[in-house]
Amino acid sequence: MRRETTYRRVSGDVDFGRVLQVLADFGERVAVEPGNLEAASREMLAELRGLLGLGCMKLRAEISERRGISVETEGENGWWDAEIPIMRGKIRVGSLSARTTQTGIAPGEEQLRGLRAAASHLALAVDAAHARESAAMRAVHGSVVQLASEALGKILEEDRLYKTVLVLTLELMDASGAAALLEDGSVTGVGEFKEGLDALGEVAFPARKPWIGRIGDRHAVGVPVGRGGGALFLFRKEWPYLAWEGVSLKLVARQLDRARERSRMYAEREKTNLDAVAALAASLEMRDSTTGEHIHRAQGLAVEVAGALGLEPERLRTMRYAAVLHDIGKVGIPDAILNKPGKLDEAEWAFMRRHPKIGADIISRIGGFESVAAVVLAHHERHDGQGYPARMAGQEIPVEARIISVIDAYDAMTNDRPYRNGMSPEEAIAELDACSGRQFDPEVVEALKAVLIDRGREDD
Ligand SMILES: [Fe+2]
Repeated sequence: MRRETTYRRVSGDVDFGRVLQVLADFGERVAVEPGNLEAASREMLAELRGLLGLGCMKLRAEISERRGISVETEGENGWWDAEIPIMRGKIRVGSLSARTTQTGIAPGEEQLRGLRAAASHLALAVDAAHARESAAMRAVHGSVVQLASEALGKILEEDRLYKTVLVLTLELMDASGAAALLEDGSVTGVGEFKEGLDALGEVAFPARKPWIGRIGDRHAVGVPVGRGGGALFLFRKEWPYLAWEGVSLKLVARQLDRARERSRMYAEREKTNLDAVAALAASLEMRDSTTGEHIHRAQGLAVEVAGALGLEPERLRTMRYAAVLHDIGKVGIPDAILNKPGKLDEAEWAFMRRHPKIGADIISRIGGFESVAAVVLAHHERHDGQGYPARMAGQEIPVEARIISVIDAYDAMTNDRPYRNGMSPEEAIAELDACSGRQFDPEVVEALKAVLIDRGREDD
């Protein structure tokens, strides 16, 4: 918007030779020290201001897709302001803005020419600074790929893989939002990513190349993950994604795909392991006059209670194995004691109390089962410290062991034994409540009740 009439144009000669000299000096300094753009430009602008008779000048270096139109405006309170884009070809790499020395004064033709000349000379210097910045960015992106591969190498749960990748790339790749399109067509994301999500499924990746474009009101970059139709996307408002950012994201996607493959193989192997271990434990259980069913019931319930208590995936795994293996130490207890119809005498009890230790010894020989062994060792400890073998109390006892203790009691009470009929769930819960805080961890008792209520609802 031009308001020439309201301003008095100043006139006067401008020393163009000197202006060009100042700009050339600046260009040289930036070429040598591109990181110093701001400090170097301060001196240069101070000199230009004097030469052009202007009051205030600012240099901004940022890539923008706004088109390169010079704007002269009235400014605030009668100041004359100008913003002149700095262009490299069709890309706007920055802007030079200026203000006159007084209100009501506009620069003359000479000053304006000087200003435009400055803007066109600054393109090279600004470009040099950008080149350095993008070299630094590339280094950052190299580390994104590195970090992604390290982080993903340690994660074995598929949903956590996606979350980790999204958070990593969001933080390190200048994005305000990140989303993953999963193979089943659902979308998960972090940061700002709400608008235009339906469009993610329609993005095509010819030759599996990164896609760069707009989604909703945001710039976006997307890459395919694996061959099943999954994809990763990043969003930001400020400026478009560049080709090499797409390449970095593609490398991350490849890491994700490998990690996902690993995660699926691991899940399969875990399932096979657990099945084998459960079959072994069940056959062992046949010895002490219960059926192998106990193991399966206890395992399902224990994992549900652990989930209700918010245990991490790593501990849920410990829970699964420990629930199946906790009585494996009974293999070392003679049949005569294990299946004795009457009450055990003191010596027989002493024998019986060794089964957690025997079990833990067996299990600790398996690599990666150290935490399972610790839980098995503690599954007969009591909340009040009166249990065995170590007389641990309260939080000292691993939470998985506290869960087993409650579930074992509940399952034993609610199921028939050769010598008695099982109680109703209500009676068994009343028993647990009576022993809560002494034998049992009250928090675990409450969690079991919540799980049982939930199950009851599902059955209705
Ligand atoms: Fe036991």
